[in-house]
Amino acid sequence: MKRNILSPSLLLAAAAAGLAACNNTGDAISFAHQGDTLTVAHMAAQTKYVILPIQEDRPEAQVMLGDVPMDVRLAVDKVDYTVPFPLRGGADSLVVRGLAANALAWQEMALADTFDVTNRETFRPLYHHTPSYGWMNDANGLVYKDGEYHLYFQYNPYGSVWGNMHWGHSVSRDLVHWQHLPAAIERDTMGHIFSGSCVVDHEGSAGFGKDRIVAFYTSHISTTPGHQRQQQCMAYSTDNGRTFTKYEGNPIVTPFDGLENFRDPKVFWYAPEKKWVMIVSADKNMRFYESRDLKQWTYLSEWGEGYGPQPNQFECPDFVQLPVDGDESKQKWVMIVNINPGFAYGGSGTMYFTGDFDGKRFTPDTAPEVTKWLDWGKDHYATVCYSNTPGRTIAMPWMSNWQYANLTPSKGQFRSANALPRELKLFTGRDGGLYLSAAPVDELAKLRGKATEIGAFALGEKKVEKVSENGAFELVFTLTPAAKGRSGVEILNDKGEKTLVYFDAENQRVVMDRTEAGISDFADKTEPHHLETEASRKQTVERTLNYKNDFALATYAPVEAFAEAHEMRIFVDRSSVELFVDGGRVAMTNLVFPTNPYSQLRFFSDGEAKVEKAVAYTLNVSSK
Ligand code: FRU
Repeated sequence: MKRNILSPSLLLAAAAAGLAACNNTGDAISFAHQGDTLTVAHMAAQTKYVILPIQEDRPEAQVMLGDVPMDVRLAVDKVDYTVPFPLRGGADSLVVRGLAANALAWQEMALADTFDVTNRETFRPLYHHTPSYGWMNDANGLVYKDGEYHLYFQYNPYGSVWGNMHWGHSVSRDLVHWQHLPAAIERDTMGHIFSGSCVVDHEGSAGFGKDRIVAFYTSHISTTPGHQRQQQCMAYSTDNGRTFTKYEGNPIVTPFDGLENFRDPKVFWYAPEKKWVMIVSADKNMRFYESRDLKQWTYLSEWGEGYGPQPNQFECPDFVQLPVDGDESKQKWVMIVNINPGFAYGGSGTMYFTGDFDGKRFTPDTAPEVTKWLDWGKDHYATVCYSNTPGRTIAMPWMSNWQYANLTPSKGQFRSANALPRELKLFTGRDGGLYLSAAPVDELAKLRGKATEIGAFALGEKKVEKVSENGAFELVFTLTPAAKGRSGVEILNDKGEKTLVYFDAENQRVVMDRTEAGISDFADKTEPHHLETEASRKQTVERTLNYKNDFALATYAPVEAFAEAHEMRIFVDRSSVELFVDGGRVAMTNLVFPTNPYSQLRFFSDGEAKVEKAVAYTLNVSSK
């Protein structure tokens, strides 16, 4: 049965716009325009979706069904791509605000029961997680339960740039193969559904039943221009994470001082006191709260002001306890802090601090100016870890950087991928300090297909003509770098576009250079973050090697015990190169946009370097 589910206020608006004039002329959709400000669309047939045409550089119009307006960049004079807008409950009318009566979108809207998600994107990775369509940023609510890894993510289903934050949803049994599911938590009248975390409430302490997945997220709403309200909310699932019911008592945590940047709740179980702890990023701090029932929260402490590079904005905290050097009797807490801006090479990055936690307060091991990066590439952000994975700590980064995330090359079907999931471990460095290693999860090895044995050789130079047909491969080798100059490998395509990974003896560091990796001019337009000072930006640009723009540049990391043999693992996918040195003691994740897929290798050295056990694996992925 066709049902009109417009809210009372919308019905009034519809009446005002002259819905009565919207007679069925045989057109699938008819429109009643009230000037350029309000239009009522009336659907003559009952379908699952109205297909909306998008023009990405146009302002947002508001499409409303029920009480929540969705911001959609409807086409004015050109269609870049389309998105499906679900007509839930058999709805037969929609209200659109803020789109001129002569816009192209009115001609191009169509009714449909299906939406084709067959890949159309050249740069869509073949073995990294991406949304089937739409925009994605941070991983959210990472939780493992009953054999499934849930990956929720910041998701805009109505365009391939940021907006309309929902929690999108995919699941996997092996962290490698992902199944797309419908969005799990949708933007509502309280606001956008910003980042957060999930727990499995084994004992049912929240009163929603035992073993429920409970989600914590930030409701974000713009209040007046330039101002926002961010409060923490809760939702629970009774169907293993497929759908969520928002808690009627939301919000559960609001800032006691009206702070406007107050988001991304991380909730975990603190066993020694049998209580839940929540960490919320609060501007340049992290605030700790405690609870017995996940609903009532009491403020405990805050930590972080002045730590890490300045200026910065703390986002997406995580807090994990890990054994030191694998010794279960020696445990340390690690505070993962995502910052934007402030990353070593510009924009967004993930730092961490080791220390102790007494159930109330975090005490770091190091001084405020000591910054340790979890990954040294430019495309590793909002990284948080899975909950409920005893014995393993698995992090899942978003593979982009806010400097250019909305601008990366795309036909508009989707934007952004996750970097490979990594297992985090704590180790003691040669300087006695504690560090995190981030190694690709073991499950990735099962993707390995045909091996091209490259073997052992001294450098000089060695070319390998073809290691991949589809731009998706893994390269493994041991490298003893030369005592002078550079030694490493170029990963290149048949047009000579290349990404270089090399050791630099003079500076005892490992470098990834994407200056000539492929397309990079999209980043000519990036603007400094509003928190960035001219001085800090200048410093970042000077630190970065071969800087051409915020994308075309090289990143680097210090290497301990430089002159020894190093285990190298490099994962190449259509639009990324991820480097893991010595089991992830150095991790470096960078996007690249080669106009033909990378397929060749050229090992090189300025001195006497040695390569051993070099193998390139094709990966068993569906070639799209
Ligand atoms: C981090 C972030 C979060 C916020 C979300 C909004 O990338 O800015 O702090 O919750 O993205 O999409």
